[in-house]
Amino acid sequence: MSQTPLLELRDLSVGLKGDRVEYDIVRNINLSIYQNEILAIVGESGCGKSLTALSILGLHASPPLRITSGSITYDGRDLTKVSPEELRKVRGAEIAMIFQDPMSALDPMFTVGTLLTSAIRAHKKVTDSAAEKIAHECLADAGIEDPRRRFGEFPFQLSGGVSQRVMIALALVNNPKILIADEPTTALDVTVQAQILERLKDLKNERGMSIMLITHNLGVVASVADRMAVMYTGEIVEIGSVQNVFSVPQHPYTTGLLGAVPRLGSNSVALVPIIGRVPLPDNLPKGCTFADRCGRVVPECGVNRPELVSRGAAEVRCFNPFR
Ligand SMILES: Nc1ncnc2c1ncn2[C@@H]1O[C@H](COP(=O)(O)OP(=O)(O)OP(=O)(O)O)[C@@H](O)[C@H]1O
Ligand SMILES: [Mg+2]
Repeated sequence: MSQTPLLELRDLSVGLKGDRVEYDIVRNINLSIYQNEILAIVGESGCGKSLTALSILGLHASPPLRITSGSITYDGRDLTKVSPEELRKVRGAEIAMIFQDPMSALDPMFTVGTLLTSAIRAHKKVTDSAAEKIAHECLADAGIEDPRRRFGEFPFQLSGGVSQRVMIALALVNNPKILIADEPTTALDVTVQAQILERLKDLKNERGMSIMLITHNLGVVASVADRMAVMYTGEIVEIGSVQNVFSVPQHPYTTGLLGAVPRLGSNSVALVPIIGRVPLPDNLPKGCTFADRCGRVVPECGVNRPELVSRGAAEVRCFNPFR
């Protein structure tokens, strides 16, 4: 893509530093988000998807975790270097995040209306009625049918699907340029999942937003994302357009994940694990970290770590990729 990225992660590593340990969990991530696209991040549990996302907004548990190298460039600034105050202004207003579990993210003491209007006031000076108007619009934009009624309700009165939509509305109130959605629908039933993802896709188009969508669900990726990054043991192993990665997957890990995908349109979306286990970040094997589980190993895999290199329309980290 020749466009300038909205957000650019360069060589980003996030590590754990304790009394006696020090190792990186997320390693040398190079990732750009462009305007008006949905970028999906996929990979098995523990591969560093959430940590990558959290570190963008400085929300990783620090200490013990810290950014050990690299930069996160947004709007001409390196977010790894700005003051906490400046980062707080970016968070919510420019880059918003929605989490997997709305029930624990929505404060039970406040009504939906109060949650939304205080989020607006945290970044903007507006009158009560202006804040209310924005809140209603965002609830409607998040796909809530009766914003007026929901406005006065408390989180416990909402179903899982409505709670997740309120979370989306909360993320939208300050009209962010980028929305980071970390498994926004895993707790919901399949029909509601599909509706919410469609809404996210519409929001991308209506508001010209960019969305970083973290998911285990490759069916979701195929239906809503534009580009995708496949992560394994804290690294990107393949990145390209969804069209390209699905039709010509090159990394054996990607083909493994895709092999586990149901037909498009089917409701069954569970990811069948690839044989073997993901090595832990404090005990990575020498050479390629996927070698133990890979059906295409060549001698070099046990010796050196492959770099991410351009191959065709994608970038791949493998000594013996497909095609
Ligand atoms: N606060 C922490 N202290 C130590 N290790 C952590 C901490 N948070 C995350 N990790 C480790 O970092 C690694 C990546 O975790 P992360 O939550 O980013 O994975 P993920 O890809 O989001 O997984 P999932 O799909 O299960 O959400 C895991 O090995 C995890 O144990
Ligand atoms: Mg996660």
